[in-house]
Amino acid sequence: LMTSLRTCVKATLPPNPLPPFYCCPPAPASEPINFTLPDPAEPLRVRRPMHAVGAEHMARYERAITLMRALPHSDPRSLYQLANVHCAYCTGSYRQTGDPELNVQIHFSWFFFPFHRAYLYFFERIAARLLGEPGFALPFWGWDVPEGMRMPAEFSNSSSPLYDPVRNPAHAPPTLVDLDFAHVENNLTDEQQVQQNLRIMYKQMIGNAALPSLFYGQPFRAGQSDRPGPGTVELTPHNTMHTWTGDLTFHNVEDMGTYYSAGRDPLFYPQHSNIDRLWEAWRDVGAARGYRGHVDFTDSDWLDSSFLFYDEEARLVRITVRDVLDIDKLRYRFDGVGMPWVDARP
Ligand code: C2O
Repeated sequence: LMTSLRTCVKATLPPNPLPPFYCCPPAPASEPINFTLPDPAEPLRVRRPMHAVGAEHMARYERAITLMRALPHSDPRSLYQLANVHCAYCTGSYRQTGDPELNVQIHFSWFFFPFHRAYLYFFERIAARLLGEPGFALPFWGWDVPEGMRMPAEFSNSSSPLYDPVRNPAHAPPTLVDLDFAHVENNLTDEQQVQQNLRIMYKQMIGNAALPSLFYGQPFRAGQSDRPGPGTVELTPHNTMHTWTGDLTFHNVEDMGTYYSAGRDPLFYPQHSNIDRLWEAWRDVGAARGYRGHVDFTDSDWLDSSFLFYDEEARLVRITVRDVLDIDKLRYRFDGVGMPWVDARP
């Protein structure tokens, strides 16, 4: 599957339609360039958990968000446009090249992990450029480990740039996350909630995810209808954490609970940094324990599919799934937490 700006149209916004919304990226000055890997001599960025990264690093992330918000809406590196990138890939804005009847929708399919990895890659580099700190690493929200099972305090401080008023007020800290949130509070004790969260992680990362199609999601090829079927983690805890964060009194559980607006919430990016970490964790657990199904697809329809992003130089770049499979080559890694759920067999 490939996308082209020429086939980008107004979004329709399910499930509760709002007026059609235009979230296609600005027109590029020239044709997209093909992605090239960063210089191997670039320092390795280390993405660390928000609960342990320290106030100084959180202040850097706050500053990055402030700088992105301050750019004009026409700048593809503005938070406005970065949020719209997500909108455009999730709401039917992009039509399939060759069949305008068919949507490009990267969720509920095998594109879920690679699309979001590429998205964060550019987001992180734009942040680093705006901050003037080439080694800046996007922290992650480690809600799968007990110490990370709360929204970090900065996000609920109304004077922080990380605050978003369109969230569920009942889920501000110190409420523990419910990784299996289904629009109702389950009233567990904190200890019970932690144990339940760990069991959910085990189930979604190991118990139910023994094959690439189960973990990544189902194949989605050019000429097919979108949303063939999600992977385990995409549904839970990914979707559930979006809904847990969003405001249930809004029709579409804005901001985090629906695709077109999720990227407006600064919590979106650390949330996806954790999803990206869980992708690595699934492969690592597979390698460590000899789970032979914890491997990537080898199908070229997956590997050669591509997405479009603007980079830190505001150049339009075409990046393929193949390009994002090795984070060492992308010059970052994850650090700072274990995987306490690996033995939390229900
Ligand atoms: Cu593209 Cu967390 O959704």
